[in-house]
Amino acid sequence: MKTNLSMKKFGLSMMSAAFILQATSVGALAADENHTNSSIYEKKIVNIAHRGASGYAPEHTIPSYQLGEQMKGDYIEIDLQMTKDGRLIAMHDEKVDRTTNGTGLVKDLTLAEIKKLDAGTWFNEKYPQMAKKSYEGLVVPTLEEVFKKFGRQANYYIETKSPDVYPGMEEELLKVLKDYKMVDSKGRTKNVLIQSFSQESLLKVHDMNPKLPLVQLFSYKNQATISDEELDTIKEYAIGVGPNFNKVDGQYVEMVRNHDLQFHPYTVNERADMKKALEWGATGLFTNYPDVFKEVLTEYKHDKHNKNEK
Ligand code: G3P
Ligand code: CA
Repeated sequence: MKTNLSMKKFGLSMMSAAFILQATSVGALAADENHTNSSIYEKKIVNIAHRGASGYAPEHTIPSYQLGEQMKGDYIEIDLQMTKDGRLIAMHDEKVDRTTNGTGLVKDLTLAEIKKLDAGTWFNEKYPQMAKKSYEGLVVPTLEEVFKKFGRQANYYIETKSPDVYPGMEEELLKVLKDYKMVDSKGRTKNVLIQSFSQESLLKVHDMNPKLPLVQLFSYKNQATISDEELDTIKEYAIGVGPNFNKVDGQYVEMVRNHDLQFHPYTVNERADMKKALEWGATGLFTNYPDVFKEVLTEYKHDKHNKNEK
């Protein structure tokens, strides 16, 4: 399997020059009996709280994740970075500058140093209409703290960010998943999905545990296209694809769904776009406003039901 995937990886990287120029990376896996009862396999359309309910609270903080749950997000989306002392933390950027009062690269800071930073005040200053006193002084959570807080009742959509910067990131992630019993003795999970822009990172995870459901992210700069060959390759290791919504169209979604892959575009914050994504056949989406998507989804299902009744 390893050799086969390595060859595929090479094949994929050589595939279409246009595709490579458009996308920063590729990815996807086969949904089967290995992947137990997560929302994905219940054929549910999933509401992914992007960095938590980050339209309302400082991204990647416990209150943001809590709001995501309260607003009925099915998944808490978590971006991972790794500290100088090898701990996985929830943060989008490689630098702490944007979302804390500190400066510098996560890889150059210990967890103790990062724990001293304020991860909430920036939000109050940037979004005064959403500001809350309680956001002042929030701390950056570790992945372990998130698992401790939300447990195995929650679902987690975890991204390996900048894996080339963090050797051993995937091994540490799988260790934490095991320590917190997010995978069973057979390596299966009910509530975790791993996503990455890096095909290499996903293949590494797949090699270590082929039962973990994976989603390949893409960042298209131009109008997105994808071939059957690319989707066949993705399907060997992932269950779905997650491209930027603003560069895809109905034809792209049809291609993806024809390969029986999940389609989870990011980051969809406008009602009209959410509706469009659903009409195209999205099986879920990343949003900063899970409450809004919940409403749109309810309306969409209602309209669809009424149409079928006629
Ligand atoms: O993970 C889906 C989406 O979050 C990818 O973009 O930059 O927000 O991590 P980004
Ligand atoms: Ca992400």
